[in-house]
Amino acid sequence: MNSFNELLQNRRSVRQYTEQKIEREKLDLILQAALMSPSSKRCNPWQFVVVDDHEVLSKFASCRTYGSKMLEQASAAVVVVVDASLTDTWQCDGAIAAHNMLLAAADLGLGACWVQVYNREGAEQMIRQELDIPESLNILCMISLGYKNEERKPYDLQKLQYDKIHYERY
Ligand SMILES: Cc1cc2nc3c(=O)[nH]c(=O)nc-3n(C[C@H](O)[C@H](O)[C@H](O)COP(=O)(O)O)c2cc1C
Repeated sequence: MNSFNELLQNRRSVRQYTEQKIEREKLDLILQAALMSPSSKRCNPWQFVVVDDHEVLSKFASCRTYGSKMLEQASAAVVVVVDASLTDTWQCDGAIAAHNMLLAAADLGLGACWVQVYNREGAEQMIRQELDIPESLNILCMISLGYKNEERKPYDLQKLQYDKIHYERY
């Protein structure tokens, strides 16, 4: 990947993975990316639980009716846990860390996808129970990770929604 813009253009949600396991060094780079996220007042309200047990991932694949099936094939998932008692910006802080991981995975040529957990059916409860996450912490999302088994088209710069941009006034 040559430039940051190319990385952004090529980062797409990937939901099909091969059986190949992600190497520990690559997972470490993805987690380092999360730990370098900016957060409000640098309160770093997040914590990350790495899951690579296929049985647990399979269980999490059905934590939602739609939107979590890719975990069945995933090599690993990083569960993003955030302490809302530390800051009212906890969702923003958690989302930035999650997105840093999506970018790091894309940079490594891996497939990744956000799986929303917070406010989604009983997903939070199931994951909390399985991973012993205290009630005092919110579970924002999971980032599913794996070697790609599908090719997604990069964003076409000509087709971006430029009409969403306003100058000087709305
Ligand atoms: C806050 C948020 C929640 C999302 N939740 C899910 C989800 O639960 N399941 C899923 O498959 N994709 C989920 N996505 C991925 C989006 O569907 C995806 O980013 C969007 O369709 C744009 O596609 P792209 O990522 O390929 O650019 C989520 C993305 C965000 C930012």
